[in-house]
Amino acid sequence: MKMIAAVSADWGIGRDNSLLFSLPTDMKFFRRMTLEKTVIVGRNTLLSFPGGKPLPKRRTILVSGTICPDGVEVCRTVEEAAKKAGDESFVIGGEQIYRAFLPLCDTAYVTYVKSAPPADAFFPNLDEDPEWELSEESEVFEENGLEFTFRTYRRIKA
Ligand SMILES: NC(=O)c1ccc[n+]([C@@H]2O[C@H](COP(=O)([O-])OP(=O)(O)OC[C@H]3O[C@@H](n4cnc5c(N)ncnc54)[C@H](OP(=O)(O)O)[C@@H]3O)[C@@H](O)[C@H]2O)c1
Repeated sequence: MKMIAAVSADWGIGRDNSLLFSLPTDMKFFRRMTLEKTVIVGRNTLLSFPGGKPLPKRRTILVSGTICPDGVEVCRTVEEAAKKAGDESFVIGGEQIYRAFLPLCDTAYVTYVKSAPPADAFFPNLDEDPEWELSEESEVFEENGLEFTFRTYRRIKA
């Protein structure tokens, strides 16, 4: 399985159940990578989407023990969600879900923004994780006064 996230310079991903950045180029990248695919999402992140609804044109697996909204397949556990989603699926957050699925993933697409606004939700710091390595990094993009790169981290094969 793969993860996809936009992180700040200190690996922040959100504040007050919202994103930290609005970067159209990153949104396009996220859309291109996940369209027509299966995505796995946590309750807080689903509720942060417009209207609290799943993203269109994606099969959405929600991991939650409390809610069961229309348009998603609900799984109560990480194991159940991973089995249902399959290897080609994308874990799309938030923090709890990224941390819970990290051991099951082999690739992470990380949009790395060179700014560190205050955050209350974080992605696991893959630069400090000996099981992961930075495999590719794009040129630097600039948008809305923010510099960012597209990074691909891969799990180091044992
Ligand atoms: N920058 C990015 O790329 C990005 C991407 C996505 C989200 N975000 C941000 O991340 C923040 C939200 O993260 P979060 O950690 O608060 O919420 P979250 O991971 O989206 O959702 C947490 C909820 O998911 C369910 N859950 C989590 N782990 C579970 C497990 N092991 N088994 C069963 N259910 C589990 C629980 O739902 P129940 O309580 O219903 O059981 C839990 O309350 C927001 O600020 C959002 O904007 C950022």
